[in-house]
Amino acid sequence: MKNNIAVLPGDGIGKEVINEAVKVLKAIGSVFDRKFTFQYGLIGVDAIEKTGDPFPVETEHLCKKAHAVLFGAIGDPKFDDNPNVKVRPDEGLFRMRANLGLYANLRPVKSYPPLYDRSPLKNNRIKNVDFIVIRELTGGIYFGQPRGRSEDGFEAFDTCKYSAGEIERIGRVAFGIAQKRNGRVTVVDKANVLATSRLWRQVIKQMAGDYPDVNLEFMYVDHAAMNIITNPAQFDVIVTENMFGDILTDEASVISGSLGLIPSASIGEESKLFEPIHGSYPEWAGKNRANPIASILSAAMMLEMALNAPGEAELVREAVLASMEKGLITGDIDPNSTCTTSQVGDFIAEYILAKSIDDVSPMTII
Ligand code: IPM
Ligand code: MG
Repeated sequence: MKNNIAVLPGDGIGKEVINEAVKVLKAIGSVFDRKFTFQYGLIGVDAIEKTGDPFPVETEHLCKKAHAVLFGAIGDPKFDDNPNVKVRPDEGLFRMRANLGLYANLRPVKSYPPLYDRSPLKNNRIKNVDFIVIRELTGGIYFGQPRGRSEDGFEAFDTCKYSAGEIERIGRVAFGIAQKRNGRVTVVDKANVLATSRLWRQVIKQMAGDYPDVNLEFMYVDHAAMNIITNPAQFDVIVTENMFGDILTDEASVISGSLGLIPSASIGEESKLFEPIHGSYPEWAGKNRANPIASILSAAMMLEMALNAPGEAELVREAVLASMEKGLITGDIDPNSTCTTSQVGDFIAEYILAKSIDDVSPMTII
């Protein structure tokens, strides 16, 4: 059985939301008699303070040995715009993504009926939205070289670069997922401006013949940004480069109701990592206010995609929906709410634990 989990809570609210995800996994473990092992690793600010490195080699080994990695968040504003800073916590995040080969980042976007009325978008637009954004995670402008400043410091530059191979492997992930969903892929790019986007179109078109059952379309990113708000139900699978995927998924989270609701899975050659898409949100760190649902749903994705436990994943999702129906809504969705991070986690864990009692019918006792 695959039960060996590396846990990297990271910075800011990462620590408290990951606590809740672990609590929920422990509940799953006890109901389904699975013995998870949780091994904690340092990443981000704590790692810099203790080792000088935001992604220490011990953490990398821990991740590589584990069946799955559960990760919280990275980032602290005290490292921003500070000329004395030699190493930034975010570098740890990028090194982790690169060194673990996590090139495909899957970000499912759904609307939840109990939250329809809380969305800033009209009900009729968000009803039945269920799509997934596949964000390329180890290429593009996040990693391209050269980058930096001119010698006099008055110019700065970044490089957006993609190889045909990088595009093809993320394209195959998108087509494969579309085949299991509703058979539609939308490639989001800026092919009227960017050379990289034109290579994306060429490579994806060449591959399309291998997937005759998938309906393929291309959409410029500016147009996609508008459509995600005006008609999000049209999408099934969106595949896009690194930075467009970053921006569009924050935007798309408005459909669900909050950034605090969107989980993600990052997959690659060997490792599988699961993380909420929100960042470390230092303003709320340690306040027991953050929404743990994105982390808990990331744990559900982990059960399904890395630990071969789709039934368990489904129970976690059912419990999350029950928490929303019960009105356990944190302050990211309702600014007047007093509902805490741990209340949401406790409810979801208890909902799962109650299942074991329900399931023990008189027949099984005999
Ligand atoms: C994300 C985050 C990160 C990113 C930040 C924290 C560097 O926004 O995972 O979406 O841009 O990739
Ligand atoms: Mg982001």
